[in-house]
Amino acid sequence: MTSIGILGTGRVGSGLARALAAAGHQITLGHRQPPQETPADETGAVPQPRHADQRTTAATTGIVINATPGDTALERLSALRTELAGKILIDVSNATRHTPDGLPSDLCYPGSSLAERLQRALPATRVVKTLNTMLFPVMTAPAELSTPPTGYLSGDDADAKTITAGLLGDLGWKPEWIEDLGDITTARATEALVLLVPHVLRRHGFRPFAVSLAR
Ligand SMILES: NC(=O)c1ccc[n+]([C@@H]2O[C@H](COP(=O)([O-])OP(=O)(O)OC[C@H]3O[C@@H](n4cnc5c(N)ncnc54)[C@H](OP(=O)(O)O)[C@@H]3O)[C@@H](O)[C@H]2O)c1
Repeated sequence: MTSIGILGTGRVGSGLARALAAAGHQITLGHRQPPQETPADETGAVPQPRHADQRTTAATTGIVINATPGDTALERLSALRTELAGKILIDVSNATRHTPDGLPSDLCYPGSSLAERLQRALPATRVVKTLNTMLFPVMTAPAELSTPPTGYLSGDDADAKTITAGLLGDLGWKPEWIEDLGDITTARATEALVLLVPHVLRRHGFRPFAVSLAR
């Protein structure tokens, strides 16, 4: 069992929390404003997720997943530098500007990436980028797609990527679906793939998909 903190409790964060708790990990959900009382868990997952503010979540867990809005994540996570020191930070966010209909348009960091900026801002933290190239249901149910999806990994630390790949395995990802692209600079490629997303969504709605390699 690993102690995992998830910052952001929206579609991505709550889905990952359910699936990782069901796989036996101890999850702490990091809210901007944690609930006064622990909400009833309807998933039956054991152990039950804990709830805390984002700073406490980062301070009290061993692996932290960033599932908050990517456009403001650099400032937010930089402020948690002490709490994140010595930890693995798994960044699944996309840092984009949005069109009026709420869909991603331009990259916040063209010629770079949020993951690289995070790694530079958090030198004592091992940043791994993954899962940002698919609609959220695919993250926790990759086998549901008709063709196997690709789960990319980018990061400077080999052990951190191995541990992250193990968590992907707990979410149902087969090893042959996981593509380690290399160091953290490779995240600028996967972060740029988000530019496909608004066009796919406008044509096909929120039907689950992943941007994958075909061989
Ligand atoms: N949706 C997808 O299919 C998808 C796919 C790939 C990657 N992503 C990325 O994953 C991240 C989360 O996406 P999502 O769809 O789960 O978004 P979402 O449903 O809007 O959830 C984001 C959560 O982050 C927290 N949050 C919002 N604003 C915040 C702020 N200013 N400071 C701190 N926390 C804040 C909120 O949790 P609390 O209210 O508990 O604080 C919110 O529920 C984004 O970066 C997105 O680009 C999404």
